This record gives sequence, structure tokens and C-alpha cells, in this order.
Amino acid sequence: MSPQSAKKKPTPKRTRASASKTKRGAAKRRASTPENNVKPQLYASLVVQLLSLLKGEQDFIANAANFSALLFNSLPNVNWAGFYFLQGDELVLGPFQGNPACVRIPMGQGVCGVAAQQCETIIVPNVHEFPGHIACDVASNAEIVVPLFDGERLLGVLDLDSPTIGRFDDQDAEGLNELVTVFVAHEEGLGL
Ligand code: SME
Repeated sequence: MSPQSAKKKPTPKRTRASASKTKRGAAKRRASTPENNVKPQLYASLVVQLLSLLKGEQDFIANAANFSALLFNSLPNVNWAGFYFLQGDELVLGPFQGNPACVRIPMGQGVCGVAAQQCETIIVPNVHEFPGHIACDVASNAEIVVPLFDGERLLGVLDLDSPTIGRFDDQDAEGLNELVTVFVAHEEGLGL
């Protein structure tokens, strides 16, 4: 399967969150305590594990499925992890772990559609406060959506949900962006 091209060129990747969240995240990073090194260390370990899973395998769906399973089983307090891939003007459900989810999301709708349209990572501390949030699992209270690019071509998004309000922060955004970069770089080598 090969995700289709977006018509619009993406802007540089950014992370959108509330201003207060961003400031708190920056303050924590400056302090560099053992506590706030936990997430970076976890994501560094996940990069190694993802590379190991991808090594020698060329099937895009299989690799995306294993990537979602790695995230779902390694990240604490996550109740859904998976992909939506761009097909025409909508996102279509890809490999995932968690409860069954809505299959098609139009560009600009829901957290996934907004992240895809704006070509930026979106952290939602409380999904119930996000206008137009699409509820697939009643247990979900927080969400992070990371767009995937092949160069400037939007491929789709990686979506993670959590039952814990405020679960995702800038460290998750950085870690997940690194992981999707590793994933797409591997797939690029396959000529997708
Ligand atoms: N909540 C998402 C829909 C996908 S599910 O979370 C798996 C959204 O608002 O786009």
C-alpha cells in the first residue's frame, strides 16, 4: 500500500499545545533532573527497538503494524496507538492497537484531520476541550497526533490516545517525531 500525495506543501513541523504546557515543558527540560530524563531514555530505547523490528523487512503494512504494537505495549497509559494514512482528501485507518476506531477522517476534522491539514504535531491535554474532537474510545481523555512526511509529501498521521488527562507533553512530541522519522526513512529506502 502506498499513501497518496497531499496537494498542499507542509509547513515546518511544529508542536501545538497550550502556552502554559509549553512553558512548563521547557522549564522541566532546563532542570534536567533524573525524573525528566525518563521519557527521553524510553524513546531512545524505542528507536533501537523500532530499528530492530524494521531491519530486513520491506512490507509497509507489517512494519506499521509492528510500530503501533511497539508503542502501544511500551508507552504507559496509552489506550490507542496507530496510523491514519492520507488517501485523496481524507485520512483512512491504518494498522493500530486498541479498540476499533472510525475508519475515515476528512482533512481538517478531528485532532487527526487538523494535524494533517496544518502539518504539525498536536498535543491535546483534554480531548473534551478540543472543538471537533472525534471520540472513538470513551476511555480517551488525552491525545497526540504526529504527521508523517516523505520529504514534503504528507503520508498520514500517527495517533496516540490516553485515558490520563495531560498524558502527552513536548518530550512525547520529540520522541514520537524521532520515531516516525526513523520509520519513514526506512520506508523511503523501499521506494514508497
Ligand atoms: N480522536 C481522533 C480520532 C481517532 S481516534 O482517537 C483513534 C480525532 O479526533 O481525530
